[in-house]
This record gives sequence, C-alpha cells and structure tokens, in this order.
Amino acid sequence: MPLIMIVIGGSSSKMLAQDLANELRCKYLPASVSHFPDGETYVRIEADDIDDEVVVVQSSHPDHNLVELLLIQDAAIGLGARKVSTVVPYFGYARQDERFKKGEALSAKVMVRLMEMNSSKFVSVDIHKPIVLDWFRGDAYDVHAAPCIGKFFKGHGVDLVLAPDEGALQRASEVARAIGVEWDYLEKTRLSGEVVRMAPKNVDAKDKNALIVDDIISTGGTIEAAANQLKILGAKSVTAVCTHGLFAKGALDRLRKCCNAVYSTNTIENEVSVISVAPQIAKALR
Ligand code: R5P
Repeated sequence: MPLIMIVIGGSSSKMLAQDLANELRCKYLPASVSHFPDGETYVRIEADDIDDEVVVVQSSHPDHNLVELLLIQDAAIGLGARKVSTVVPYFGYARQDERFKKGEALSAKVMVRLMEMNSSKFVSVDIHKPIVLDWFRGDAYDVHAAPCIGKFFKGHGVDLVLAPDEGALQRASEVARAIGVEWDYLEKTRLSGEVVRMAPKNVDAKDKNALIVDDIISTGGTIEAAANQLKILGAKSVTAVCTHGLFAKGALDRLRKCCNAVYSTNTIENEVSVISVAPQIAKALR
C-alpha cells in the first residue's frame, strides 16, 4: 500500500527526493523555484490543496538553499499539509555547534530552530555533530549512509576500509562490515584549512585495494593525504568515498590525481553522487 504522503524536492535534492518517493511508493512533486531580479527566492508548489503529510527534501547548503527550504515548508503549510517532515540530506553549519570563541554565533542551533518553525520531524544524514538533533523540538533522526555505501561496494574487490582518523572509525567499520572486509584508521593532523598530514602508521595495506571512507570531502586535503599514505604503505589501489561531496576549490580534480576513483552519496548532487541514501531515509520516515 502506498503511504499517504507527498515528497516535495527542492532544487538541491531533486534526484534524491524522487528516489525517496519511489522507496516510499508515494507521490513526488518538484517545488517550482525561481529568483526575482534582485536575487530573492520565489517558491511555489503547483498542486491543489494538500491534506496529506508532506516530506520536504532539501539540503541547507549553501545559504540560498536554506531560504528555499523554509519557503517550501511554508508553501506546503499554506496548501493545508497536515504535517511537514523536513529531510535535510546535508545540513550546513553543523561544524559551528559551539561558540568556539567569545562573541561567535551558535550557527547550527539557529539553522535547526528556523527549520523547526513549520515542521515537526527532522531527518538528516551523517550529521557532523549529532547535538544538532537535540535542538530540534520535535522528532529528529540522524540516518547513517554506511549501509548504502557498503552495499554499493560489495563484490567490487575492496580488501580494506580505512577511516582517515580515529573519530571516523565507527563509520568505516559499518561500511567494512557491510562489505565483509577488515577495517583500520589512519592518524590525521590538520595543519591548516587545506593542508592535512597523516602520521606514519603501521596499517597492513600492502597489495590491497583500499577504500577510504569519510563523512565530508571539502577541499580534498584529508583524502589526498590519506591516499598518499596508503600508497607509501604499498596499497594496490585507492578509492575514496564520502557521504557529503562538497568538493570545494576543484577538489574532485585534485583527488582524481591521487585516487583511482572517487564517489559520494546523493546528499549533495554532483557528478560522482552515484550512491543513493533514499533507502535509509525512507526507514526513518515510515
Ligand atoms: C572532518 O572532521 C571531516 O570529517 C572531514 O574529514 C573534513 O571535513 C574533510 O575536509 P577536507 O576535504 O577539506 O580535508
């Protein structure tokens, strides 16, 4: 039986929203989005009155996508939606979850409180800091991409899964278990925004097809350092995969020089976002 739900995709997440509607066997509607000459965003949901639950799917990065998300939620409420669930596949600002220096904004809390205005359920994927979920005053879920990543690589010759640092080991181990191979971690030190160093570490990567798994690839500095370290350790091939492929400042070109292949999930849609996280999100919405 299809669920009585309508999935509405914002412009950052059209493909994922369609996948999700297929998973949930319910109707998909794209939000109609354009911009006024001064740059302000115009949103319309082209539908008759809605008396079902609406699932809005839209990442909140960069900032204009957040504005679009808030307007789609309001448009759904305006059409009579009974309940609005908000799926934010990539939640921007999750790294500013503290006032690290006196006088700073607590950005992550501001963003999630805005999303809560017209929504009672929040779902995100591999959110960088899970504390964000506690700030949403409704049902909030963080979905793991690892099962989808593991399924994608199963049977593709991966021998070893690596986390770029110990903090990312849980995710790497989930992926490795889904594939059925060993896992380990490297030791990362960030020297600057774009420069990362990997400490030499005794990882048994010799002649292995290694898969590096991280939550975010931004500048690519982390993966580049990890890939170079794995080559020093004698890896036969190095593939990189992340949940959120931001690929800032030409990161994809940079990584293609040191990795055999690079992939991401579709939380951010790009040319390598071939792994859909829709099955995991659907579980949180059913
Ligand atoms: C850091 O905590 C994250 O897990 C990623 O490792 C980081 O955001 C990757 O950034 P970049 O690609 O710029 O090294």
